[in-house]
Amino acid sequence: MAISSNSIMLLLIVLTAAAVFPAAATDHIVGANRGWNPGINYTLWANNQTFYVGDLISFRYQKNQYNVFEVNRTGYDNCTTEGAIGNWSSGKDFILLGKAKRYYFICGNGQCFNGMKVSVLVHPLPPRRPPPSPPAIRPPLRPIAVSSETGPWVLGFLLLSWGRFG
Ligand SMILES: *[C@@H]1O[C@H](CO)[C@@H](O)[C@H](O)[C@H]1NC(C)=O
Ligand SMILES: *[C@@H]1O[C@H](CO)[C@@H](O)[C@H](O)[C@H]1NC(C)=O
Ligand SMILES: *[C@@H]1O[C@H](CO)[C@@H](O)[C@H](O)[C@H]1NC(C)=O
Ligand SMILES: *[C@@H]1O[C@H](CO)[C@@H](O)[C@H](O)[C@H]1NC(C)=O
Ligand SMILES: *[C@@H]1O[C@H](CO)[C@@H](O)[C@H](O)[C@H]1NC(C)=O
Repeated sequence: MAISSNSIMLLLIVLTAAAVFPAAATDHIVGANRGWNPGINYTLWANNQTFYVGDLISFRYQKNQYNVFEVNRTGYDNCTTEGAIGNWSSGKDFILLGKAKRYYFICGNGQCFNGMKVSVLVHPLPPRRPPPSPPAIRPPLRPIAVSSETGPWVLGFLLLSWGRFG
């Protein structure tokens, strides 16, 4: 026999993994279409999102007018950038949320006092993520069970196909 059941098992496992774990890190655009600007309550924005390790948070604003500093809780509460953990100023800054912890970002030019501060709690990856937006017509994803019941059946089907087309 040319093919081993082991290689078919491997194929099925790879296909199943691809179906069950689609690569889907979310980019959370701060303020959505209002961007990073004064006078917005970013607590309301953050409360409306769920952040997971590996997601991105991105700040969109007029370059040279505003900026972004990552600070700790003290910096966030007091709007101070002393001892900041990081800073960005491109106007379109993508920041990786690489750890399960609370992150604090503020604007460093005084506008923090006008609301340009945001704190987000990043959760560990759940065992299985819900798809970002389920398309209307697709049938529900179901993992392919590799069991002693389906194994021989699939093997038989593949052998039949190969006999016909191979
Ligand atoms: C933003 O909204 C939160 C939640 O409703 C509220 O607790 C907070 O006081 C608001 N912040 C400002 C600056 O209005
Ligand atoms: C919360 O998210 C929903 C769906 O994305 C959106 O329609 C709504 O405007 C958001 N609310 C706030 C306060 O951002
Ligand atoms: C900064 O905020 C903290 C609360 O997080 C407060 O205890 C502290 O007194 C503040 N420090 C200054 C210099 O305002
Ligand atoms: C935040 O960072 C500042 C400056 O490095 C430091 O003085 C302060 O103790 C830190 N606060 C916390 C809560 O870690
Ligand atoms: C911004 O970050 C860079 C390192 O990436 C650092 O050299 C610089 O001092 C920081 N600027 C401020 C104002 O903290």
